[in-house]
Amino acid sequence: MATHNSTDGTGGMDASIRFDEEQARPEVDCALTPLGRADEAIFFQDAGDGFSNTVAVLLPVSTRYISIADALAVGAILAIENCGGPEIAFRGGRVDAVEPNLPGVPQPQQDLDSHIASFARQGFTQTEMIGLVACGHTFGGVQHDFFPDIVPELNDPSDTDSVAHFDTTNTQFDNKIATEYISGTTQNPLVVGFNDTTNSDKRIFGSDGNATMQSFANSPDLFASTCADLLARMVDTVPAGVQLTDVITPLAVKPANLQLILDGDVIQFSGQVRLWDVAADPVVVLLWDDHIGGTSNNVTVVQDSVVTVSGGRHTAAWYNFNNNTTPALFKLDATAGITSIRFIVNGTLEDQGGVGFAVQDDIMFATSSCFTQGNSNGDTATFNVAVRTGVNPTRVYLEAPARDSTDRPIIVETDLAPPTQSVDPSATYAIWSVQIPLDFSLFTVGAEIDGVKVTRGPPTSLLDFGHQCPI
Ligand code: HEM
Repeated sequence: MATHNSTDGTGGMDASIRFDEEQARPEVDCALTPLGRADEAIFFQDAGDGFSNTVAVLLPVSTRYISIADALAVGAILAIENCGGPEIAFRGGRVDAVEPNLPGVPQPQQDLDSHIASFARQGFTQTEMIGLVACGHTFGGVQHDFFPDIVPELNDPSDTDSVAHFDTTNTQFDNKIATEYISGTTQNPLVVGFNDTTNSDKRIFGSDGNATMQSFANSPDLFASTCADLLARMVDTVPAGVQLTDVITPLAVKPANLQLILDGDVIQFSGQVRLWDVAADPVVVLLWDDHIGGTSNNVTVVQDSVVTVSGGRHTAAWYNFNNNTTPALFKLDATAGITSIRFIVNGTLEDQGGVGFAVQDDIMFATSSCFTQGNSNGDTATFNVAVRTGVNPTRVYLEAPARDSTDRPIIVETDLAPPTQSVDPSATYAIWSVQIPLDFSLFTVGAEIDGVKVTRGPPTSLLDFGHQCPI
């Protein structure tokens, strides 16, 4: 984001760092480190070449719903939190640049006035500059390989890469960057480096008579809360015209990857419910409503298929419901269908204040989809999509995730043909269809209804719901 110009609105957190031209600049190239550095605010803990590795790891995380720049922002936020840092508010909606930004990453040999001007251009005051540099430099250090004029060969068997750390807890977010600086024990190579020209942290930290650094040294809480605010502003620094969302916070209970597939006259309903910070082994009951007045049909979600992820302060657990765990949900009467679900977790109703979680059973893949292999005419895939009677899409299509020439996530659409015979109005679903060369990659179903595009289901392979075509 250090490329941002708050006057003309150019630059900022827009993933332009992925372009080779930016990575080749001396201001960035010299910062290729395992943890990354200021530009784009990457704190990634894999070994390798900083930005290129970070982009290589986080770019595939981006999808139609999360831009590359959003993936970089959320990566930074989670890394900071998981290294003991504060929770940082996350907003979505960053837009990926299609070309490099102008240069603008500060460098250690620049003087204080240049740094004040640089941070002002990015939208930060001098006090905020001190804060941001301290918040960033609580992690990591300076590498001899890239900055031999700052860090000499350390000849330390426990630090063979000769990285001089900014504080003694270089993988932890804490206020030691300030306490060690104030107490005069700091080994920060940008404060006590042998070459005073590159002692940029010394000039920056001391630029208000140490008032800000003293306040951080006095209070770990003040340091953490100041960093939470500044780092949020940092990742929210975006080019003019980009509208970020409100702060996104995890729901306590959230359905995920809901999948409906028509199998003759039943709907196979499967998916997951994600629980946030719940005590171990909760009892989870799923309730659903249907089109024919059925309310509070219910089934207990079996607990033997839990995937738990813990990081930082939080735990997320995904409970699967599928043919094995909840067979009743896997054979819903198609006419009754399903309109919404709710959950009871350890006796507490989770229904978003009575709204429930909507489930759309209007358009879905059908198990009559099939494929041919080893066919002399070429291998084919036939996708059948069921459209509920009364729903009148103008288009139904397959959606395939892809990338444009600058690696931005896009969707490629393949239209299905409507039913060839007039649809029996008493039938629950009509089948749209398309045959394409065999393709087992992931597709979602898309449709245009009243001029609005909708998407149904999680990305799914034909292998998961199709079968060999009858010969
Ligand atoms: C005047 C402003 C700044 C200057 C001159 C500067 C300079 C540097 C330098 C020379 C390095 C060593 C890089 C390497 O060895 O590859 C570094 C590392 C680092 N910087 Fe900054 N920095 C500045 C601001 C910031 C800001 C605002 C942040 C984030 C909020 C930040 C976060 C980091 C981190 C996390 C590292 C460690 C990387 C690692 O260990 O792999 N820096 N910085």
